[in-house]
Formats: sequence, structure tokens, C-alpha cells
Amino acid sequence: MKKLLTLATIALAVVFAASIISPSTVAEEAAEMAAGELDGKALFTDTHKCNMCHAVPVAEIAAKTKNEKMKGADLGGKVEGELAEIAAYVRKEADIDGKTHKKPFKGTDEELQAIIDWLGSLEAQE
Ligand code: HEC
Repeated sequence: MKKLLTLATIALAVVFAASIISPSTVAEEAAEMAAGELDGKALFTDTHKCNMCHAVPVAEIAAKTKNEKMKGADLGGKVEGELAEIAAYVRKEADIDGKTHKKPFKGTDEELQAIIDWLGSLEAQE
């Protein structure tokens, strides 16, 4: 009987410990998975409409605007060595050649990272 009680106590302790540890771990894992599962291409074209002004020739994406003044540089092949700067740049926290981005990025860090990861992955395919 005493042994059973000990086992029950241990079992309870394990369940209790798991309930303390797992919620945050599960939440963190869910956030990481969400970031990894975000579709950078869809965010670029549909959610944030970067393709309004930017073409991505390697992904066969054309810029939608007909206004040449609005157009930004073609992306994909041109971001070499700049991937790390893009986040701060499109948030208007940093400039490239003395100019900041036309349109401030309004999405989440995870979304921005997914877009940058996607642009970076295109480079690898070339
Ligand atoms: C309203 C038009 C417009 C939209 C929308 C837009 N951009 Fe831009 N973007 C520009 C212009 C203009 C430049 C600066 C001129 C250039 O680089 O040709 C630029 C520059 C950039 C550059 C630097 C390119 C380089 O090689 O110097 C990156 C990276 C960039 N944009 C990413 C994005 C991303 C990601 C989005 C979507 C979240 C986006 N842009 C949405 C107009 C736009």
C-alpha cells in the first residue's frame, strides 16, 4: 500500500511538472512552427503586395504597377549580401545608399523573416 502511494505521488508529481513545463514549451514550439510554415511567397504577393512595385524574375513574378517611378528594384537575384539589411530597411530603420524604403513594412517580424527567407531561397536556386 505504501508503495502504491509512493507511485501515485510520483505520478502526480510528473503530471504536475509536465503541466508547468509544457504550456510555455508548446507555445514556443507553436510560434516557431508558425514562422516556419509561413509562406514567404504568398506573403510577398498576396498579404503585403510587394509585387505591386517589385518584380521577382527568378520566381516569374512581375511588378503590377505600370508607373515606372513607383517601381523598386527586381528582387531575388539582387539581394545578395543584403538579406540581413532588408528587415531594418523595409521597416525604415535603416537606409541603403542614403535612401529608406518607400513603404514601411506593417506586418510581423515572423512574416518579414518568412519573406526574407523566401527571397534568400530563390538565390540558392539560381
Ligand atoms: C509602393 C511601392 C513599393 C512597395 C509596395 C514595396 N517596395 Fe520595396 N522598394 C520600392 C522602391 C521605390 C525601392 C527603392 C528603389 C530601388 O531599389 O529600386 C524599394 C527597395 C526595396 C529593396 C531594396 C532593393 C535593393 O536592391 O536595393 C528591398 C529589399 C525591398 N524594396 C523589399 C520590399 C518588400 C519585401 C516589400 C513588401 C513587404 C516591398 N519592398 C514593397 C518600392 C516598393
